[in-house]
Amino acid sequence: MIRFDELQAQLRAQPQTWLVTGVAGFIGSHLLETLLRLDQRVVGLDNFSTGHRRNLDEVRAAVKPDQWARFVMHEGDTRRPADCHAACREVDHVLHQAALGSVPRSIEDPVKSHQSNVDGFLHMILAAREAGARSFVYASSSSVYGDNPSLPKAEDGRGTLLSPYAATKRITELYAEVFAQCYAMPAVGLRYFNVFGARQDPAGAYAAVIPRWFNELIEGRPVAINGDGETSRDFCHVDNVVAANLLAAVAARPGRAEVLNIACGERTTLNQLFAHIRALVARDQPAAAAARPVHHAERAGDVRHSLADITAARDAIGYVPRVSLGEGLVRTYRWYRRSAAPVAGIAV
Ligand SMILES: NC(=O)c1ccc[n+]([C@@H]2O[C@H](COP(=O)([O-])OP(=O)(O)OC[C@H]3O[C@@H](n4cnc5c(N)ncnc54)[C@H](O)[C@@H]3O)[C@@H](O)[C@H]2O)c1
Repeated sequence: MIRFDELQAQLRAQPQTWLVTGVAGFIGSHLLETLLRLDQRVVGLDNFSTGHRRNLDEVRAAVKPDQWARFVMHEGDTRRPADCHAACREVDHVLHQAALGSVPRSIEDPVKSHQSNVDGFLHMILAAREAGARSFVYASSSSVYGDNPSLPKAEDGRGTLLSPYAATKRITELYAEVFAQCYAMPAVGLRYFNVFGARQDPAGAYAAVIPRWFNELIEGRPVAINGDGETSRDFCHVDNVVAANLLAAVAARPGRAEVLNIACGERTTLNQLFAHIRALVARDQPAAAAARPVHHAERAGDVRHSLADITAARDAIGYVPRVSLGEGLVRTYRWYRRSAAPVAGIAV
């Protein structure tokens, strides 16, 4: 089985063409950056519904001009089959990230989530098959385990789904399985747990906790925790997710549809996470050390504990999380510190 460093060398020697959907989003823009740094050709598809042009600008600034020249952007929508077909032309691998994230968003508007997450997925996998793509790797989610209480969560675990978002992700896994059966489509679903890192959107009602807390503490604003803070998650730095996507793409085999947990295999409570983030911010802004979170009610659709068994991903694609939570938080903090609005009187 190929290691990630070997794969990077192999790709540099033999560049391929990749389609990244959701390329202007958090995870998509990291995929783009890594692929361009490896001198790959990349096609991007995004409708900028939750993604941002500034993420693409940041990638442009991070790579060399000749690497950026290998990127072709399609502003389009996976809900439109023609956009999917146009983007898929002559691609070797599809990394399908485009979807509307967030459990609460899907509870408020299940139809919208279904359209982007399920209809969009079906159009995309059909276009990939018709274009003869060698692999189709897609973003699934730990939410598919629903209320299953067993820990760690292995891929064969099942539970009652707790949100329309979870249902959309489970449906895409079923479609991938059917496409492997009917059309020998090589598909790998990556069940991301809680991914974090630079460029994750801290704004809006549906923001994830890590970007939100970094911004709130850096800007000296109050921080809220939903519930008692003993809810736990398996937080995973985005660089691990990028590596998993590339490894999965080259490991995909015709007729096989796998689903794999992608996480670190470690559980952290929200209270522990808050203490960690506060300590990082307090290094530069001592006043942050006194910050105390306000506890709000639990959110509907949230599971209490989440922890991944990552054995299957290691065995199937050679996935090993290389960036720990601690190291990932340090890297992430540096980025939010650069991009957050500075607090008066504090040099950033
Ligand atoms: N971030 C996490 O912790 C996490 C966890 C589990 C699963 N996921 C999944 O990973 C994927 C990427 O998530 P992210 O955190 O980068 O979110 P994001 O919102 O930053 O990125 C999603 C991107 O998809 C684009 N998009 C949405 N609907 C589209 C459509 N119909 N057509 C074209 N583009 C569209 C958005 O504009 C955005 O740029 C999603 O599928 C999400 O469900 C993320």
